[in-house]
Amino acid sequence: MQALRIQRFGGPEVMKIEAIDRPTPAADEVLIKVFAASVNPVDAKMREGKYPVVTEKDLPYVLGRDVSGEIAAAGNDVSSFLIGDEVFAFLSPEHGGYEEFVLAKSDEVAAMPKSLDAIGAAAVPLAGITAWQGLFDHGSLRSGQRVLIHGGAGGVGHFAIQFAKAKGAWVAVTVSADDKEFAADLGADQMIDYKLERFEDLVEPVDLVFDLIGGETQQRSLAVIKPGGALISTLQEPHKARAAELNIRVGRYTAQPNGAQLQEIAELIDQGKVKVVIASTFELREAAEAQAALRDKHTRGKVVLKVVD
Ligand SMILES: NC(=O)c1ccc[n+]([C@@H]2O[C@H](COP(=O)([O-])OP(=O)(O)OC[C@H]3O[C@@H](n4cnc5c(N)ncnc54)[C@H](OP(=O)(O)O)[C@@H]3O)[C@@H](O)[C@H]2O)c1
Repeated sequence: MQALRIQRFGGPEVMKIEAIDRPTPAADEVLIKVFAASVNPVDAKMREGKYPVVTEKDLPYVLGRDVSGEIAAAGNDVSSFLIGDEVFAFLSPEHGGYEEFVLAKSDEVAAMPKSLDAIGAAAVPLAGITAWQGLFDHGSLRSGQRVLIHGGAGGVGHFAIQFAKAKGAWVAVTVSADDKEFAADLGADQMIDYKLERFEDLVEPVDLVFDLIGGETQQRSLAVIKPGGALISTLQEPHKARAAELNIRVGRYTAQPNGAQLQEIAELIDQGKVKVVIASTFELREAAEAQAALRDKHTRGKVVLKVVD
């Protein structure tokens, strides 16, 4: 089968399509025939050797953290899926999705939403689960609360807006000026242009800041959180001492594969409560262009690689 691998860390030129053996699932695994794989900021970090989970000893390494596809084979202990079932999954880092067939633990996998095609489904798992776990598992966001999401127009942010609204929360976002309408269409209640406006001057205190940006955006965020509220980041550990003085709970987390949560997200999508927005699609051989587009172009929603026609 074809797989897009790296033999060493480096720039886009280290990604090569190579022929490798199709793997066989262990007892608790399924083999997914991949239709499409999404592109996430972590893919370029892994390629460059800047993501600590992937080290020299893991090379050669197949990039790609999430896929849509169909079950091609299943291990002896798997009873939840049949050959041919259409599924999607956020993969654990041992397996990469930029390839024709990928292994996944059966509890990382969920049935593909009926209302999405393969491209739309591939866009969901990592970004959707990251938004879900950040808002609800780590942020404990509840109905009636107020949340500020930094980076609301990106892959994770556009899901976070919609999940928070589906939960009954009030949502403010920081976005580029020309993404304000996009965020409003997804349900955001207040849109702040991160280049020209200061969110501290505009947002009334919130229960939760969901930080997808880090740096000084994160530092300035403590000023808008109610005592007893929380700041949860996907990027860097917030300053604990200052937060403790203000009675604000802070944390940084790494999203974990979770088929049950993915199934809940699939239901929201099929109920029409959550839209999946695709910024652009590329062929597998164009992975370098796809990663560059995610980094350089103004991204609204998700970038996806087509693995099969
Ligand atoms: N810890 C984890 O498990 C985990 C999981 C997923 C993602 N992440 C990280 O979380 C971050 C977001 O991921 P993503 O997939 O959503 O990225 P993405 O699709 O590239 O989206 C980033 C968004 O942030 C916007 N942006 C840039 N600077 C901003 C600022 N100062 N204020 C507000 N918005 C700003 C961008 O808009 P413009 O194009 O208009 O600038 C873009 O819409 C990435 O750094 C990623 O590595 C971590």
